[in-house]
Amino acid sequence: MALARTTETIGMGGAPAALEARGITRSLPLGKERIDILHGLSFRIARGEFVALIGPSGSGKSTVLGIIAGLDSPTGGQVLVDGIDITRMSEGQLAAIRNQKIGMIFQAFNLIPTLTARENVEVPLYVGKHEGSPSARAKEVLELVGLGHRLDHRPTQLSGGEQQRVAIARALATRPAIVIADEPTGNLDAKNSANVLNLIRELRARTGTTFIIATHDPTVAAAAERVIRLYDGRVVGDGTPEEVGITEAAAAEGAELRTQPDGVAVAPLPDGVRR
Ligand SMILES: Nc1ncnc2c1ncn2[C@@H]1O[C@H](COP(=O)(O)OP(=O)(O)O)[C@@H](O)[C@H]1O
Ligand SMILES: [Mg+2]
Repeated sequence: MALARTTETIGMGGAPAALEARGITRSLPLGKERIDILHGLSFRIARGEFVALIGPSGSGKSTVLGIIAGLDSPTGGQVLVDGIDITRMSEGQLAAIRNQKIGMIFQAFNLIPTLTARENVEVPLYVGKHEGSPSARAKEVLELVGLGHRLDHRPTQLSGGEQQRVAIARALATRPAIVIADEPTGNLDAKNSANVLNLIRELRARTGTTFIIATHDPTVAAAAERVIRLYDGRVVGDGTPEEVGITEAAAAEGAELRTQPDGVAVAPLPDGVRR
């Protein structure tokens, strides 16, 4: 039902989906039993959509992102990225798809500390086949995220907000069809979160990239054009922020999601990460 409604809501007609999940399940062995983490999720995300994946801690957001990024395999169901079924691909094929079609952004930035901003952004460009010079492309995307003046800085010489901008530039460097972000503002203060969010909106408008963002942050969810709400490994809501109950007012107060049982509005910082 969620699938039918989604198609209708965003009026995709026959347009190719950037991403399609068809009844994905994920279970893990636990002693002699198995625990089900995902119970058959289906959704279709059109090219250029900005989707927030929300739900309390443990509801399966990171598991879903890992599966759609090809980092983890579903137990059942199918995942299509840009029309290509990645479900039964080998590790090597998956690595190639990730490099060509998917950019990833993490809560803890995951930059390589010994490399400069520019070198960090060059890394994915050296992995697969990409047009032009990695160094020129890295400079171009760093300028796009407003860091043209920080090319030779290392992560420790950058603020948290700047580090996340470098990570966003790295994710965009290969011109991926989809950018997947897991709690991208989780380690940032309110001001830097707002900056990163504005940047994502701007980049999306300028590049037409599809953004799928798992978040606890109601401001991020309210800024998305579509919200998929998970609960206990199931899709329990799919629509505009208003339709799934994220109001502007609630977002402003930070009330809506911060009252979820886990209450992880501000995530703990890994060692060495500054706010
Ligand atoms: N490797 C794992 N082993 C056991 N349980 C796991 C593993 N990964 C995730 N889980 C469980 O799966 C559920 C969903 O986790 P996760 O996708 O991380 O949720 P979220 O990102 O929404 O917080 C949780 O109950 C979590 O404990
Ligand atoms: Mg998570």
